[in-house]
Amino acid sequence: MSQISLDQLYEPHLHTLMQRTERSLSLSGFDALVIQAGAPPSQFLDDQDYPFKVNPHFKAWVPIVDNPRCVVLFSPGSRPKVLFHQPRDYWHKPADLPQAPWTEAVDLIAMDDPSQAGHLWAKLGRVAYIGPSGFAAGIDPASVNPPDLLTRLHFDRAVKTGYELECMRRANELAARGHRAALAAFRSGASEYEAHMRYLAACAQREEEMPYNNIVAYNENSAVLHYQHLQRSPPKSLRSFLIDAGAQYRGYASDITRTYASGPGRFAELVEALDAAQRLLCNEVVAGRDYRDVHLTAHRVLGDVMQQIGLTKLPGQAALEAGVTGVFFPHGIGHLLGLQVHDVGGVLGDSQGHERPRPEGHPYLRLTRMLEPGVVVTVEPGIYLIDSLLAAAHADKRRAHIDWSVVEELKPFGGVRIEDNVVATASKPENMTRDAFARTA
Ligand code: GLY
Ligand code: MN
Ligand code: MN
Repeated sequence: MSQISLDQLYEPHLHTLMQRTERSLSLSGFDALVIQAGAPPSQFLDDQDYPFKVNPHFKAWVPIVDNPRCVVLFSPGSRPKVLFHQPRDYWHKPADLPQAPWTEAVDLIAMDDPSQAGHLWAKLGRVAYIGPSGFAAGIDPASVNPPDLLTRLHFDRAVKTGYELECMRRANELAARGHRAALAAFRSGASEYEAHMRYLAACAQREEEMPYNNIVAYNENSAVLHYQHLQRSPPKSLRSFLIDAGAQYRGYASDITRTYASGPGRFAELVEALDAAQRLLCNEVVAGRDYRDVHLTAHRVLGDVMQQIGLTKLPGQAALEAGVTGVFFPHGIGHLLGLQVHDVGGVLGDSQGHERPRPEGHPYLRLTRMLEPGVVVTVEPGIYLIDSLLAAAHADKRRAHIDWSVVEELKPFGGVRIEDNVVATASKPENMTRDAFARTA
């Protein structure tokens, strides 16, 4: 694991968060902030809960990701108060009060009854509340998740602190271990399910701790962008393996995809060509670059790859203009990453909420912002053989630009995606994912 000390980075992180929040509160007309961690919803007609997913605003302040109903109170000028929920409950084991070094930077207060929190925030003036509204007793409804404040906080959070970057490096390292284990499972002939289970074991995380559902797809299944099943037995012939899986570290996500061919041939060449293209595109993640241009560059670069591999008959730019690249590359080149896998604020142009439009004809691009130092994005080009998109292209003018015999040859392999997590800096981008694979080799 990376050797940088998170203990030294936490306090400056908290300081940055306090400064950003103080400014945003003041501009939105509030005196203080209450953040509720949230609670898991109950299952219909049952006495069990769904897995708990903490409010991302809460885990930005403190690395408590598994204890519902905790509260952060922040009043500018004072240290944050963390109300740590310790219910009197003999059915479950109440969480232990954290003792890690980060707790020295906050006032940590045990709370056995969540309704106690209201007495504390009642004294703080005009309070904004962020979290599920069911816990906002006594708060003016206009101050519950106020859009103006949320927008300001969401805009700011794209630029990560040193602490956040280090958490994300570690989330990449955990996922890199999982990816290696899953690949070994595939190579040994194991099923999708088995590869998934070995992934979890290698990163030592439960399924519910994953930042998103693992995508573990063999053969044609790789053509389904968010393939959600796990076949329990291996197919007769193992041709290709696409795995999109991350991990979390202190609530921060990684989001990594790799694709493998089981033997040589056109599909293996496609994987290799896409990997080379992906590395080129990662170099585009520099401060001052418009991410929309990265996306459009990706279409041109992937268009060239499609032609090189024999799928299409036009060079990249012409293929983009003819709408051919989108047949095989139908998603955005990437998105913001951090507290959430598709982190918020991707289309904001400023902290007041003005949006930067997506390029026409590219409705699935989640990120249209200018890149700045400290912004973490994914770079995830893909080329897939998707029946519905191919049928649509076959039915119109694009048909002439596609080599349908190569389409048929590649269909049994599904598709390719390669995805890394990259930090924009003032100079060379930091590729957290390739660094993590190198550290864990
Ligand atoms: N794992 C979802 C994505 O890559 O965006
Ligand atoms: Mn992914
Ligand atoms: Mn992604």
